[in-house]
Amino acid sequence: MPASQMPHSAPSAEGWTPTSWRNRSIRQVPVYEDQRALAAAEQELSKQPPLVFAGEIRQLRQHLAEVCAGKAFLLQGGDCAESFTEYSANNIRDTFRVLLQMAVVMTYSMGQPIVKIGRIAGQFAKPRSADTETIDGVTLPSYRGDIINDLAFTPAARIPDPQRMLRAYHQSASTLNLLRALSKGGYADLHQVHRWNTEYVRSHPSSADYTDLAGRITHTLRFLESIGISDMIPQIRETEFYTSHEALLLNYEEPLIRQDSLSGEWYCCSTHLPWIGERTRKEDEAHIEFLRGIGNPIGIKCGPTTNTDELLRILDILNPENTPGRIVLITRHGANKVEQALPPIVSRVHNDGRAVVWSCDPMHGNTIKASNGYKTRQFDAILAEVTAFFGVVSAEGAYPGGVHFEMSGKDVTECTGGGFVITEEDLSDRYHTQCDPRLNGNQALELAFLISKQLAKHT
Ligand code: PEP
Ligand code: CO
Repeated sequence: MPASQMPHSAPSAEGWTPTSWRNRSIRQVPVYEDQRALAAAEQELSKQPPLVFAGEIRQLRQHLAEVCAGKAFLLQGGDCAESFTEYSANNIRDTFRVLLQMAVVMTYSMGQPIVKIGRIAGQFAKPRSADTETIDGVTLPSYRGDIINDLAFTPAARIPDPQRMLRAYHQSASTLNLLRALSKGGYADLHQVHRWNTEYVRSHPSSADYTDLAGRITHTLRFLESIGISDMIPQIRETEFYTSHEALLLNYEEPLIRQDSLSGEWYCCSTHLPWIGERTRKEDEAHIEFLRGIGNPIGIKCGPTTNTDELLRILDILNPENTPGRIVLITRHGANKVEQALPPIVSRVHNDGRAVVWSCDPMHGNTIKASNGYKTRQFDAILAEVTAFFGVVSAEGAYPGGVHFEMSGKDVTECTGGGFVITEEDLSDRYHTQCDPRLNGNQALELAFLISKQLAKHT
């Protein structure tokens, strides 16, 4: 039975049902020509097994509550948009590996547990700034992510196809299968810390720091083994890894809502942490309504269009009990706006006693056009926004608890700068993203080192 038709005797937000979002106005949705095909795809999705489980989601909420209390730090990262063409075991493993390396660096220098969340296993749907795209006088509907239509610039490719939701679901299921194996099946064992350094990372300037740190970890492990306690610490051999994506395409999300038989709570079982984007964060509209009734932790992007009064009302709607671990506020202003725009937001929310995780997305406010036309981001601007974020949040008396990156584990050339100094001319070498420019593995690891140094000052 589709989740939407299940009887609900459950504790849920008043007036909320899995379908109540359908009565609200909605932005950033595709127009499906064949409504019957859409309904059939939704029906098919509702019969599929959940991708994640209520117990895992509750565990993540607990970890985020620890971040809220300043006792842990959040690292979230992955593709801007997953795609059907870039999908491969190697790509998944490489993203996982770089996140793992970053987390090890951060744990070691900050002395804090790192909560690791991928933008993965469902990060397909993209909000767009315009509904159409024009090239050489030809205008077509915009590409909205592989779960909706195709990137190719032809009329047929841009028609939204509901069957793509099923393909995205199955790709997400296989991706999660591999991630679960990598995190629990030996790959993430800290004894492997040297092996995670691939050839291309090894040749990078920050690699010496990494090798040094890996050596110290190995030394510590030997000590724990010699005194006979290493078997008592499961975190040495396996890790916890969670998934997230923007809950944009509600026709995909709704059929994956499930009611937990233990607690009676409703969960969105397409991902552990769904987030709401800068363009759909409207208090009386469909996306907020959808997220209101589910028990998952929820990310909220807060950029230059944030109205602080509305943000407080959104927090009332999404987190009426002010429960720590429910909300992650992901700020994304841009390096040159953050110092001016962020203090009033942090100050209002913090002084109002709201329990939130403060996380910084230094990607989406720093997208620029290179002189040769490539959409890019500068390493220094990314670092500058994170630095300013740490300063502002701490100055307001709150805890800067997380970072959020668009990154690949591969040696792509999409963002400029970093230790290897990728120039604008280099961008054309390996520019593979379907959407926004990502940090490559080296740039991501380098940032982890630089950020850890800064955080040591603020934690
Ligand atoms: C994103 O995270 O890919 C995104 C589109 O972000 P934002 O909503 O902050 O622009
Ligand atoms: Co993006």
